[in-house]
Amino acid sequence: MIFIDACKRKETPYTPIWMMRQAGRYLEEYREARKEAGSFLDLCFNSKLASEVTLQPVDILDVDAAIIFSDILVVPLEMGLPLEFVSGEGPRFGEVIRDKNSVLGLKKDAYKNLSYVYDTLCDVRKKLDKQKALIGFCGSPWTLATYMIEGEGSKTYAHSKKMLYTQPDVLHTLLATLTEELKGYLDMQIKSGANAVMVFDSWAGALEREAYLEFSWRYMKEIASHIKKQSPEIPVMLFPKGIGSYLDKIDGDFDVFGVDWGTPLEMAKAHLGHKYVLQGNLEPSRLYDRGAMEEGVDRILGVMGKTPGHIFNLGHGMLPDLPRENAKALVQMVREKTKR
Ligand code: CP3
Repeated sequence: MIFIDACKRKETPYTPIWMMRQAGRYLEEYREARKEAGSFLDLCFNSKLASEVTLQPVDILDVDAAIIFSDILVVPLEMGLPLEFVSGEGPRFGEVIRDKNSVLGLKKDAYKNLSYVYDTLCDVRKKLDKQKALIGFCGSPWTLATYMIEGEGSKTYAHSKKMLYTQPDVLHTLLATLTEELKGYLDMQIKSGANAVMVFDSWAGALEREAYLEFSWRYMKEIASHIKKQSPEIPVMLFPKGIGSYLDKIDGDFDVFGVDWGTPLEMAKAHLGHKYVLQGNLEPSRLYDRGAMEEGVDRILGVMGKTPGHIFNLGHGMLPDLPRENAKALVQMVREKTKR
């Protein structure tokens, strides 16, 4: 698999490409499947439809990897927090975690109840082209904790940060509990057919450097080391969004570092390129315009070249109103320009 070879810095015929949130509302086929399922969460629970939606971007865009269709928040959901997705507003939990007792009340071994995710993985791996990789994923403990503490998306993370500075031991207990669940969850995803795994730390950038290293990066590394020990052949990819100025502090046992669009790629290359394969980092909004897209591609390839060490991706997720023709053109463009 070209994608897996690239994760291991092996020679490949071209630079592989996939896109974060490559399954989603910008595809009418996705919107139809979601309608058939009833709601976004029902789509996540329905392995047959989730499997279809996972394969759509591979068929339509010809990307080199599929990412399993699910959401990071199904883990806290199975830990006992009622979840709904309010249309136009995003996720909302019916209960929040604000003290020690609520942390201790969370269900243990919740990852064992995520069989709908494992079923989807098994089904996709059976149907997916043998040359294409299947990526499993989870949210980072910190990013999941922010949703569990705030109850919904947040601009300030006020409750989470208040807990960090006033009850750090409670936050550590929550993060350690999540870390154990996520280890089991990724182990099961690998057993079910995932060829690589990725940890999304979308709200990394909410924390100052020392707090980031202590309350998030440390747990990301713990998950990565666990996977490298259990399944050494499986590439581990970490994506902390918004920490471009902390790159000199990044270390740990993993394979691929996901670079967000706000981090200059030359800076990531200088700090991390010798240790990790870099993945990224086209600003997704460049896909609104063909010229802007090509300019961004050329800039990225100008830094990363054609030698092993790079996987092409967006610097964050696809947006719901991006034109699919441009996403398709991006895949062909990167393949053409990076042919060895
Ligand atoms: O990448 C893929 O194609 C796989 C599927 C995937 C989804 N969510 C599907 C989804 C992945 C990898 C995620 C991860 C995820 N979920 C993250 C981390 C990555 C990132 O984007 O930073 C986060 C923070 C979440 C939580 C989440 N899920 C939010 C905040 C929202 C609402 C925002 C929005 O775009 O509406 C979701 C919903 C969600 N997850 C959608 C999809 C396709 C849109 C739901 C819909 O169909 O209405």
